[in-house]
Amino acid sequence: MSAPLLDLRVSDKHHDSRTILERLTLSIRRGEIVSLVGPSGCGKSTLLRILAGLDREFNGEILIDGKRQQGPSSRIGVIFQEPRLLPWLSVADNVAFPAGPRRGRDPRVGSLLAEVGLAGARAYLPKQLSGGMAQRVAIARGLFSEPDLLLLDEPFSAVDAMTRMRLQDLLLSLVRSHGTAALLVTHDLDEALYLSDRVLLMTPSGKSGAGRIVREIDVSVERPRDRRDVLLASLRGELLEGLGAVTV
Ligand SMILES: Nc1ncnc2c1ncn2[C@@H]1O[C@H](COP(=O)(O)OP(=O)(O)OP(=O)(O)O)[C@@H](O)[C@H]1O
Ligand SMILES: [Mg+2]
Repeated sequence: MSAPLLDLRVSDKHHDSRTILERLTLSIRRGEIVSLVGPSGCGKSTLLRILAGLDREFNGEILIDGKRQQGPSSRIGVIFQEPRLLPWLSVADNVAFPAGPRRGRDPRVGSLLAEVGLAGARAYLPKQLSGGMAQRVAIARGLFSEPDLLLLDEPFSAVDAMTRMRLQDLLLSLVRSHGTAALLVTHDLDEALYLSDRVLLMTPSGKSGAGRIVREIDVSVERPRDRRDVLLASLRGELLEGLGAVTV
């Protein structure tokens, strides 16, 4: 089998005197979709910030294709819970922002906006967008640098249920067509199971209560998936059990 795209090893990560993450390893293969679920405060966003190169105060290492990373990399795109668009820049300039301000005329912007269903919105300002549209722009911006890995931290939690399902399908088709791997943090177990090849369950563990990955579930259900699939429902039970075991 080929070497993983990403290898992360965190021996420990502290905030003040508290241990937030401990003895945590994570590998992601090229094109793989992995979800990370776990109770609030267990360190999921901390882990994503480390992977994004935004937090370098930890003991451990991040390897991409076997090469040690230091700081943010154009090979990793990040999509947060809120779209974080710059209000004074047009949609097109926001998408191209990784290349610098006001680069919206880059030819890739048009094709990315078409892919996310916003071909007609390139001149709009963020205040003219609905929440779902704004998150589509954030997804297009995340893909702009043609990353090998997209990191998404609860990206669809602020939109309504129908929009959320549409955005999930959009994400699936985009990561497939771009050959991008994705690591998604979510509190929605159905979302994790519908989208992912693997779901990782993270919980506070041991005496320190530091976050660790305690269970890994392979979602070997054929695609396209039916959200009502019985196997998905039984895996959901397994995840609930894993979460229940730590919250009692
Ligand atoms: N900058 C910081 N300074 C001090 N403590 C922090 C900081 N950022 C996070 N923490 C602590 O680290 C722990 C993990 O936080 P984190 O945001 O990673 O959790 P999470 O799993 O993403 O939670 P949620 O599901 O609520 O988003 C929490 O206890 C939090 O209080
Ligand atoms: Mg979080």
